[in-house]
Amino acid sequence: MSRSSFAPGKIILSGEYAVVFGHAGIAVPSSIGMEVIFEEDSNADQLEILWDGTYGGEPWLAYAEKIAGLCRKKRTKLRGRLMIHSGLPLGKGMGSSTALLIAMTRAVLGDDAREEALLMEDHLNPGHSGLDFAVIWEDTPLLFRKGMNPEPINLPPGMLRGGVLIDTGLPSEPTSELVAWMKEKLTAAGTRRPSSESLEALNIIARCSERLIAGDDLSTVMRDHHKAQVALGVVPEETQELIAAIERAGGAAKVIGAGSRTGGAGMVLALGADAEKLEAIAESRRMPFMQL
Ligand code: PMV
Repeated sequence: MSRSSFAPGKIILSGEYAVVFGHAGIAVPSSIGMEVIFEEDSNADQLEILWDGTYGGEPWLAYAEKIAGLCRKKRTKLRGRLMIHSGLPLGKGMGSSTALLIAMTRAVLGDDAREEALLMEDHLNPGHSGLDFAVIWEDTPLLFRKGMNPEPINLPPGMLRGGVLIDTGLPSEPTSELVAWMKEKLTAAGTRRPSSESLEALNIIARCSERLIAGDDLSTVMRDHHKAQVALGVVPEETQELIAAIERAGGAAKVIGAGSRTGGAGMVLALGADAEKLEAIAESRRMPFMQL
């Protein structure tokens, strides 16, 4: 038996962190993603996991082993070869770990294993809102609110045309750590009051989702969204400088995932200006980029 599956990555247009606290978020699947082929061989001694495409080294192989281990709860005799082709930048805000989990679950357990996959995501990515999981599983643009059924959303056709994704480097902290830090800042821990600046930033992000639903211009919304992410403290300086240069060139840009407190901020979505201009800005900073 051989079964293959594909799970896309995701681009969050609006809602990072706000979704964790119950506000609305909007995300779209990316055209690139993770492909998995599972060749079952009951005569094999074990499951061999092979990696092709973007490879993140031992930690990613270990992550795939963990997912396989969780799949074994449902399918105890998991033997043969599992080939992963990763077309996504890894650990950079495009939902690579969730895409890997979903592509593997679909290849091993089948397309109806949504519940099993979500339980694995809860286990491996504690504190997540469910936004990445929903958009990657459904592979369609979604309006997401925690605890509610995600709603497919019609965005203006060509909304992201001419957009560029710029790689600002690997975040220094994993999402689960950043989410835990944000929760501590935003809820009264002990005698400390929640940070009012962060609460206001979260409200601005929540309003950005509503503005997009109301049909506001994406570039205009993205500029406000980016400022709020800066206020939350998850856009390191080098990325702030990149985005300021994009805005000076007439464009708009934002980090499309959890970002980071230091180091890289993962992928940045840039649009609203001539694509060549955006690419030149990335190139001058030696940041890799790809067209949408
Ligand atoms: O893990 P990332 O970079 O795709 O972050 C997703 C967005 C957050 O709101 C920060 C976390 C979440 O679970 O929604």
